[in-house]
Amino acid sequence: MRRISALLLVNIGQLLTLRSMPDGPRRGASLSELGIIHDAAVLCLGGRIVSVGSTKDALRDPWLKKNRKKVTEIDCGGRVVLPGFVDSHTHPVFSQPRLVDFEKRIAGANYEEIAEAGGGIRSSIDGVRKASKTALTQKVSAVLADLAGHGTTTVEAKSGYGLSLESELKSLEAIRAAAREWPGTVVPTFLGAHVVPPEYRGRSQEYVDLICNEMMPTVAKRKLAQFVDVFCDRGAFSAEETARIFSAAEQHGLAVRAHLGQLSETRLGPLLCYRPASLDHMDHVNDADLPALAQSDSIATFVPGANYFLGLTRYPNARRFIKSGVAVALATDYNPGSSPTLNMSMTMSLACTQMRMSPAETIAAATINGAWALRLADRKGSVEPGKDADLAVFNVSDYREIPYWFGANHCILTIMNGVPSGPRFL
Ligand code: NIG
Ligand code: FE
Repeated sequence: MRRISALLLVNIGQLLTLRSMPDGPRRGASLSELGIIHDAAVLCLGGRIVSVGSTKDALRDPWLKKNRKKVTEIDCGGRVVLPGFVDSHTHPVFSQPRLVDFEKRIAGANYEEIAEAGGGIRSSIDGVRKASKTALTQKVSAVLADLAGHGTTTVEAKSGYGLSLESELKSLEAIRAAAREWPGTVVPTFLGAHVVPPEYRGRSQEYVDLICNEMMPTVAKRKLAQFVDVFCDRGAFSAEETARIFSAAEQHGLAVRAHLGQLSETRLGPLLCYRPASLDHMDHVNDADLPALAQSDSIATFVPGANYFLGLTRYPNARRFIKSGVAVALATDYNPGSSPTLNMSMTMSLACTQMRMSPAETIAAATINGAWALRLADRKGSVEPGKDADLAVFNVSDYREIPYWFGANHCILTIMNGVPSGPRFL
């Protein structure tokens, strides 16, 4: 890892600063405000952003004139620069892709039928239980490198395919080991409550006991996770079980988030009192719950990659959430079953075409509101003095091209905590 102590980006055609709005995450009309500076420059020192302005002003700056030799200058040639993406929902700890499930779905089976027949999440458990920690670490490291190549500089990473004390700890340790070698920022999440593993079939309460009484205390004691997540849905965990797990997390000083409303509707009221940082998927949400969600600090995180890959024609009604004042984010949900993509630009494209979010809204949802979903908005998600030097350079001249050229990756340089990575720096 090579941190260049002084880094100056100049000739930025469009710098999307996403500078702070007065009060918290972007909601409603403010979701479209990108704080664009044309012909811009950004100066980073010691892994932090220290100044943001026009190229002309930057080149006139007395400190810069004096120290020019010590500063590595990157000429962005009129391209677009934005805060590195904050991907607030991924499942990178698995061994194998699920290619049989893929073919079954193409032939007509749905996500729940495949799970019932022994495919789905349960079929990834074996691979993780048998894998060594080193093998899992290598897998996560490869994902992190790939994420950086696509412009993501902060990522949330969940366990959740081990589902035994030993394998969940091994998964979280693999995340920790991979994170240490990556210049970006990783937020680990304990997802022991992904599904009830086969050996507890029909005894979900006992598995919840194991999560609350054994797994979670160890995870908390070893500081292996910042969040506890629950897949609260039909075929996974009930709202009551979720509340029990949230309450145990609270006792262990861990913040909470949930997979919610992917397959069926769950009322939000009883869960909002645990102040989840984020509620993710949100395909099935009762309209009557939107005002309470809008009043809360919880972010609604959409993962349209999962809708796309599961072949669903229905996507969350983003306009309804945004109109109600709910703060929304976008994430890839990178995982082997429902969303094998780590491409945030593609996720944004899906949000534009399938959910009618504007390109500007998708940028804010994939940066600053993603940072709010991870409770990292004081450090991440915008290009402002004092924030971490996390930037992505895209080889386009208008930010709307990022979701427009769908399926492509136009990121050519990523800077993570002041460390540049990309073809220019290989
Ligand atoms: O977010 N819904 C639960 N978890 C994942 C799917 C995981 C899997 O199928 O392996 C999701 O879509
Ligand atoms: Fe997920």
